Amino acid sequence: MKRIIEPFRIKVVEPIRMTTLEERREYIREADYNPFRLKAEDVLIDLLTDSGTSAMSSTQWAGIMQGDESYAGARSYYRFKESVSDLFGHKHIIPTHQGRAAERLIAMAVLQPDHVVPGNTHFDTTRANIEGTGATALDLPLPEASDPENLHPFKGNIDLARLEKLIDDVGRERVPFVLITVTNNSGGGQPVSMANIRGAREICDRHDIPLLLDAARFAENAWFIKKREKGYEHRWAEVIAREMFELSDGAMMSMKKDAFGNMGGLISINSDEWADKIRNLLILTEGFPTYGGLAGRDLEALAIGLREILEEDYLAYRIASTAYVGEHLAELGVPLLKPIGGHAVYLDGRRFCDHLTDELLPSWSLSCALYEHAGIRSCEIGNVMFGTQDPETGDWHWPQLDLVRLAIPRRVYTKSQMDYVVEGIHEVFQQRTSVPGMRFTHRPDVLPHFTSRFEPVEQAVHTK
Ligand code: F0G
Repeated sequence: MKRIIEPFRIKVVEPIRMTTLEERREYIREADYNPFRLKAEDVLIDLLTDSGTSAMSSTQWAGIMQGDESYAGARSYYRFKESVSDLFGHKHIIPTHQGRAAERLIAMAVLQPDHVVPGNTHFDTTRANIEGTGATALDLPLPEASDPENLHPFKGNIDLARLEKLIDDVGRERVPFVLITVTNNSGGGQPVSMANIRGAREICDRHDIPLLLDAARFAENAWFIKKREKGYEHRWAEVIAREMFELSDGAMMSMKKDAFGNMGGLISINSDEWADKIRNLLILTEGFPTYGGLAGRDLEALAIGLREILEEDYLAYRIASTAYVGEHLAELGVPLLKPIGGHAVYLDGRRFCDHLTDELLPSWSLSCALYEHAGIRSCEIGNVMFGTQDPETGDWHWPQLDLVRLAIPRRVYTKSQMDYVVEGIHEVFQQRTSVPGMRFTHRPDVLPHFTSRFEPVEQAVHTK
């Protein structure tokens, strides 16, 4: 049979509290029109993130009971290390409490203010951690990545010509490493091809620069390679993942995504010198190097999750179920980023709310409207997250894409819940001109999306 079904049964359920339109109107107002400030129990379908929101398997829960909570040298660490080493293959395996802790440790151990770190598209915390040291985080995506309709199969690739040119322009000594994020989250959950990773490897080899992977969604990337890259169609996802890691000198990973963890991260690295520095820094903020801010039970769950994520029935279901949402929305005329990414569907806020100018924050406004109308929580990845204001002129610079991300937690929602999401978004689309724009009432300088406050702007003010 052709139909792809959820390759699991549901053993434990968590009730969802139903809310009315009037209640949600009040909740989002109380949250100052920032969905991050909503109480999760007031959300019907939570697509804010796929991070830390996975349903763990019965095997993972059984592993939790095996957790060894010894401070140093716990059995759980060795299980974790074995599971990671088997896949990543690097020399040093260092657990951290989540992905951004890994980013911070690498940034602090390696970076200096005159450094430039090129990547396909850095995730926001990665960028913040790099820039926190005074270094520059530079995105080098393909030109195709900025066109939401372009169907390039590996739209997450790094632009190799620009990478080469950058290294020539700034000099090898200012580029401490190259970082490729698989899949490219900020670029729409788009995959990176093996050929592209290999191309980056060759450039790095020529200049003697380490190549690192941000492996948060490595398994989804491996599946896309299997499905889209010539020569890989008959290889196991696990074999493909190993090949990706073999091409790298190290990786950092948020294990809250493709390790089915509710918490966790890691650094996997070949360099003895970097590993030494990282371990010393780790002790200051995360804990002893055999637990890195995690409980022994977390390490057990992650060790198991890292194996489960590469089961091909799961990956087939995962990618097909994300595509299901995207394709149904596209059929209804809803503008979105194509092709559909691995972990999320990205609505194109500027085209969806084409009555709103950039100043009126189209995607942010849309994400508030989706909550109000249908109780769906999403995440803006656009003008609020990446917009910058010139301190002298006050002029805004807006990112190339202003998107609403519907990130789908792993093994959590059913198909009928996804049908509800499609219906809810379609209804908002049909009445889109009544979606009010938003303006800031408070905006912090760093990672503004988490804590900014907003108010709706009267329709009459809309000028577009
Ligand atoms: N790298 C990527 C590609 C990510 O997507 C994330 C987190 C991180 C690093 C940081 O990891 O959250 O464990 O500290 N992404 C989440 C998201 C938050 O919603 O996309 P973390």
